Formats: sequence, C-alpha cells, structure tokens
Amino acid sequence: MSIPTIEWEGGVDGRVKLIDQTLLPGELKFIYCENKECMWEAIKMLRIRGAPAIGIAAAMGAFLGIRDVNADNFNDFFLRLQEVTTYLGTARPTAVNLFWALERMEHVAQAFHTEPIDTIKEFLFKEALEVLEEDRDSSKKIGEHGAALIPKGGTVMTYCNAGGLATGGYGTALAVIYAAHEQGRVDQVFACETRPLLQGARLTSWELMEAGLDVTLICDNMVAHVMVEKKIDAVVVGSDRIAASGDAANKIGSYGLSIIAREHKVPFYVAAPISTFDMKIAKGSDIPIEERSPDEVTYITGHRTAPEGVKVYNPAFDVIPAGNIRAIITEKGIIKEPNAKKVKKLVEG
Ligand code: MRU
Repeated sequence: MSIPTIEWEGGVDGRVKLIDQTLLPGELKFIYCENKECMWEAIKMLRIRGAPAIGIAAAMGAFLGIRDVNADNFNDFFLRLQEVTTYLGTARPTAVNLFWALERMEHVAQAFHTEPIDTIKEFLFKEALEVLEEDRDSSKKIGEHGAALIPKGGTVMTYCNAGGLATGGYGTALAVIYAAHEQGRVDQVFACETRPLLQGARLTSWELMEAGLDVTLICDNMVAHVMVEKKIDAVVVGSDRIAASGDAANKIGSYGLSIIAREHKVPFYVAAPISTFDMKIAKGSDIPIEERSPDEVTYITGHRTAPEGVKVYNPAFDVIPAGNIRAIITEKGIIKEPNAKKVKKLVEG
C-alpha cells in the first residue's frame, strides 16, 4: 500500500492514524485515535479490519489505554492494563491477531515488572510499533514464499480483502498476488465482491487497480461458473484464525469457495502470518464465529433490500477445512497439505 492503512504519528504523546475503510472506495478519509475508546470503535465498526491490521490496532490501542494511567506499583499498573486489554478484546471475536497482540502487550509489561512504570510504558510503546514493523516484514515474506506456487501467466481468484488494507504491509493473499505479478506469474485477478459488506468490491478491486493489476470483479454467486470459464489457476485467500489442525476461518463464503475449488481441482491457498495461528484451538469447529448486525444483510450501502421484519442470520466468518487447503503460506515457509503435525512443526519449530 502506498498509503499505510494504520500508522503511529509522532512520539509517545502521538496518536494512531488510520484509513476509515468503511468509506472506501468513494472517500479516502483518515481517523485519528488518541484513546482506547476510539480504537475499540474503529475495530468494531470495521473502520480498520483484516486480521493482521486488527492486531496492530489492538497493540496501539492498548498503549493508548495505558499511556495516561497513574499507578504507584506494578500490580496496580498491570490490573489497569488488563482492564484495557479485556475491553479491547470485546471489539471482535474471530481474528485471533487481536488477542495475540493484546497478550503480547501484557507479556512485555510482565517482563519488565521491576522497572519504573514510566519505563514499562516506554517498552509498551516500542512493542506496539514493533507489532506493525513485524507485520510489514511478514507480509513481504509471505509474498516471496507464495509467489512460486502460482504458475506463469496465471489467473487467480481471491476473496474478501487480504491486501495492504488488511495488514501493515502488502497483505497476506494479495502479498502473494503482488509478488507473483512482479515475477510475471499473475496476468489476471478475479475478485469476489464478498457480501454482505463488499470488502472484495470496495477494497480489493480498488487496491488492485491502484497497484496496476488487471482485476475483474464478480458477484459471489458467479464463482463456480468463472472458475470453469476463465480457467482459474489458483485461489488465494487470507485467514482470521487457523486452528492447530490447519482448519482456517476466513470471511463468510470462503468455505463454499474451497469446496468449489476442490471440485474443479483448482489449488486453494491460505496466506497468513504466524500470529493468525491459534495453537490453543484444536480444530476449526472450536473457532468462535462473529455474528454481526442483521442490517448488514437487509441493507446494501444504506439502501434497504429486504422486507421489514424478515429473519436474518449473519455469521461473518466460516471455516475452510484443512483438507480443502493445498497449502498455507506463512512468513516462516509453506505448509503443503496442512495437518496438525505439519502445522505444529512450522509454527512451533
Ligand atoms: O470482517 P473483516 O473485513 O475483518 O474480514 C477480513 C477477512 O476475512 C480477511 O480475509 C482476513 O482477515 C484475512 S486478511 C489479511
């Protein structure tokens, strides 16, 4: 992304600057957060979204929440930090990067518990910036590792938005596509619009066009037809949480897409940083799935499209079984035909 989706402005007294993704592609507007409430709202309302970007926002939000806290001793300070992390952890349930980043901030505080409170705050500030830097680095490596999986001159399909907007760098799935494109491996990208909130239409197609790639937008119900008619060579998506088994939660519709890809023998790749693995969760069915407002289904960009009073079910994510995934692409390397043993080896090795 030429314009970072999230960054820290200034020093310890500074603020978080982020793109309000709910307004894209019509308007490129920034939000400035100086407190935890602003960060919570931005995560909850999807102003910042995508698992890695949520993790960065959480780390910075934790610092904002603790920056002005006065405490006489470490225990009081840590209790206040835990209040902040608990609060931020209620913003969204599925992307594990949120909890990973918050736990990381708590661990830093604990590691420096003998230091003065102001020094601990400085370490927390550095850590929040480090989460962003590491994510930039990871997304570059994910791209480098994944590019080789795409055949020369290939046509790829992607879902939701797993690009620079969703991370601190180039993205996860889109990092693979960008790197493959640079190597002449990607000629064309098909982006699925991704109802209900249209991240594919609003964000992915915008981001890919800005980057100069040949992108074609399709409705979600066109996937099977397009896979056959346009000879899709690979599907690449991101993930919000990967269980120890290799089952991967991603935007609602990803599971169906993986079944269609399997049926047509099209390789289905999941690209994600190590921070998206949740080794405490054994299998995909244990991943908490966020349910969002019915309005997301009954309205499209502010216009009501369904009768008043209709019953709605709106799960925001589903789970791609490991058996449908040809490979998981991470910054540490690739897990081909993932299973629990291979996931453990790469993540913990
Ligand atoms: O609800 P969102 O927009 O946060 O969902 C995002 C996705 O599902 C992405 O595909 C996922 O986070 C992978 S991103 C790099």
